[in-house]
Amino acid sequence: MNTVAVVGLQWGDEGKGKVINRLAPGFDFVVRYQGGGNAGHTVYVNGQKIVLKHVPSGILTESVTNLMMPGMVLDPDVMFEELDAVTKLGIDFKNRLKISGRVHITTAAHKALDQLRERAAGKGKIGTTGRGIGTTYADKANRLGIRAIDLIDGNNLRETAERMLAVKNPVIEELGGDKLSVDEIYGKLKQWGEKLKPFLADTSLILAEALAMKKRVMFEGAQAAMLDIDVGTYPYVTSSGTTAGAIGSGCGVNVGAVGEVIGVVKAYCTRVGEGAFPTELFDAAGKHMQEVGREFGSTTGRPRRCGWYDAFAARYMVRLGNVSCLAVTKLDVLSGLKELKIGTGYEGWDQPGLPESIVTLGKLKARYETLPGFDGDITGCTRYGDLPVNARALVERIEKLTGAPVKYVSVGPGSGQLIARE
Ligand code: GDP
Ligand code: IMO
Ligand code: MG
Repeated sequence: MNTVAVVGLQWGDEGKGKVINRLAPGFDFVVRYQGGGNAGHTVYVNGQKIVLKHVPSGILTESVTNLMMPGMVLDPDVMFEELDAVTKLGIDFKNRLKISGRVHITTAAHKALDQLRERAAGKGKIGTTGRGIGTTYADKANRLGIRAIDLIDGNNLRETAERMLAVKNPVIEELGGDKLSVDEIYGKLKQWGEKLKPFLADTSLILAEALAMKKRVMFEGAQAAMLDIDVGTYPYVTSSGTTAGAIGSGCGVNVGAVGEVIGVVKAYCTRVGEGAFPTELFDAAGKHMQEVGREFGSTTGRPRRCGWYDAFAARYMVRLGNVSCLAVTKLDVLSGLKELKIGTGYEGWDQPGLPESIVTLGKLKARYETLPGFDGDITGCTRYGDLPVNARALVERIEKLTGAPVKYVSVGPGSGQLIARE
């Protein structure tokens, strides 16, 4: 396949970064098309952990060019920290990272407003990552945003900072925050412009040409389908399109039909932040997933809520996203549980798709199918046939109930711990 997308089908943190890093050597380009510093994609390089937030996970593969497309939002300080971490690993990326001048910049004011709004919302909060994602996308939609190109093309950046703070500071103060200084914001915008300049390029044109030349391109999704602004569990979602359907608009390129869409799912479910979660657990099995799976947010460190695999929700997202196959991750985490469950639907809900209403979804109770558990350490398994029979039975049930073939099974965080099924 020349074009492949790797997208999350649950509520994020499915292990997309790990899968992408493993597959990257087979591609010329890895392309991020949405999201920003809310993402946290964990990758291990020679046993060393790195968490990428903005930079595509192809950065760790020296043969891959990495593109950051117009649909992204960018917090430059955070991205430069990521790049420092890449440099520390001894990886050179200078000519392999291109950032669209059209990405929207997240400033300290966007982050402050995101956090203050959440605090003011009390129980009604979304549970955002506090990274200024919604506030940056809102400015974009309102045509008030600051783009990367604006930092270098002769705009009066002091005026830009003044204009922005004239609108934002009164709200920040009203919400109990400290107003930000023009000098501080201006200083950052100027500094960011200088640091970003060597990386800026018309990545849409680069991508269009790469596709015309039949280069191998992998699109890296951030967040996941259940957090999609249009079809996710609104309003408990992120502020961008997170499915493969968002690739064209996020890139500003007619990418045509993507050859293969790999939907990444955990063998169970997790969610960070608020919002309905029909298969959520509050018992020993949930605790097992939390502890053994080390379910703490890669970006915020918050504990992730845990629950059984929701095949009904995943099936819906497979259909909407035209998903070709699945990568099932964290199968190793379920080892040691006596019985395993898969959510197959919801009591009293006989529609083919997920409810559009968050109120309705919040009231639904999951219906389960129960399978026998498996034991033992499976993290060293390299062939599908080596997995315990009950582990394979779970994978095959996930496949059947979700409606897409399982192509990959992940049995540990290391990039080598990915079994490709024949
Ligand atoms: P992403 O946002 O989808 O890239 O996923 P994250 O990196 O936020 O979260 C996935 C977490 O699970 C990371 O800590 C990974 O190192 C880890 N991980 C990924 N795949 C596996 C797996 O198969 N087994 C185990 N035990 N951990 C995994
Ligand atoms: P990756 O790419 C998990 C969640 C937040 C919150 C909601 C809105 O690592 O899978 P936002 O800050 O985007 O306005 O928060 O979305 N969220 C994620 N959860 N993984 C992510 O990214 C997430 N990005 C956002 O927890 O519920
Ligand atoms: Mg993550």
